[in-house]
Amino acid sequence: MRVVDLDRDMRDVIPTGAGRDSEFLFQRMTERTLALAGAAPGRRLLDVASGFGQDARALAAQDALVVAAEPSARMSALARGLDVEQAELRVLHLRSWADALPFAAGSFDAVICKGALDHFDAPEDAIREMARVTRPRGRVVLAIANFDSAACRLAHAGDVLRETLLGRVLPRGRRHYDVPHDHFTRYELPLMREQAGAHLHLEVTEGISLAWGLRAWARLVERLPAPVAQGVLVGLDALARKLPGLADVVLIAGRPRRSSSNSA
Ligand SMILES: C[S@@+](CC[C@H](N)C(=O)[O-])C[C@H]1O[C@@H](n2cnc3c(N)ncnc32)[C@H](O)[C@@H]1O
Repeated sequence: MRVVDLDRDMRDVIPTGAGRDSEFLFQRMTERTLALAGAAPGRRLLDVASGFGQDARALAAQDALVVAAEPSARMSALARGLDVEQAELRVLHLRSWADALPFAAGSFDAVICKGALDHFDAPEDAIREMARVTRPRGRVVLAIANFDSAACRLAHAGDVLRETLLGRVLPRGRRHYDVPHDHFTRYELPLMREQAGAHLHLEVTEGISLAWGLRAWARLVERLPAPVAQGVLVGLDALARKLPGLADVVLIAGRPRRSSSNSA
């Protein structure tokens, strides 16, 4: 039996962007994920682990036919409530696990899964399912937090230095580079490539944002004049795009591989 909390409420774990660096990261992550999904009138899109449904609504705003799949009853109820406020948008919500999607093979033009794969207990099965329900020339888009980012490595090295060389006692609690308690997998680029590459012909592997979460950096970004801060964040993001292994988030997209286990 699968022991899970079907009523989970993720409001406290979905960062809403407290500072400029966070706002930038989450905005870019959303922009790039949605851009790669290629919303257009009549295109059939699926958002897996859709949470509050904000991405599904953004895709529906471009007249795509959007299904939002989310297992948590509470998250789905919140998403439906938010839909009512934008009554002109039509999103079909359904409760579903990512590793057992209730759709025929090739049902969608594109499938997105943003900031969620590391929450799944069977992520590779989920990727297989996403590939199965995507049409052969369609696209699966995965946005995944990188726990081997330059920021994680720097934060970790700084803590080791403070603790061992300077003998400081670090504050209690989760560190930036620690995987949160509700994550099942600590993703870094090789693992993302391995799992995604098993089910997708990879077409896009790019990074988003550099240095997110480093406290001194976040404080500096707050103090800079807004246009300068934006310019620096954009510059680092351009670098991250070319260096996904060091980036804060990695975007992977590709066409489904067809095999006997995932075809109709
Ligand atoms: C951090 S939230 C991300 C939500 C949304 N994609 C976003 O970008 O805001 C992770 C989501 O994964 C969902 N989730 C957790 N385990 C899952 C599973 N096995 N299958 C599908 N969704 C799952 C949670 O209910 C939650 O809504």
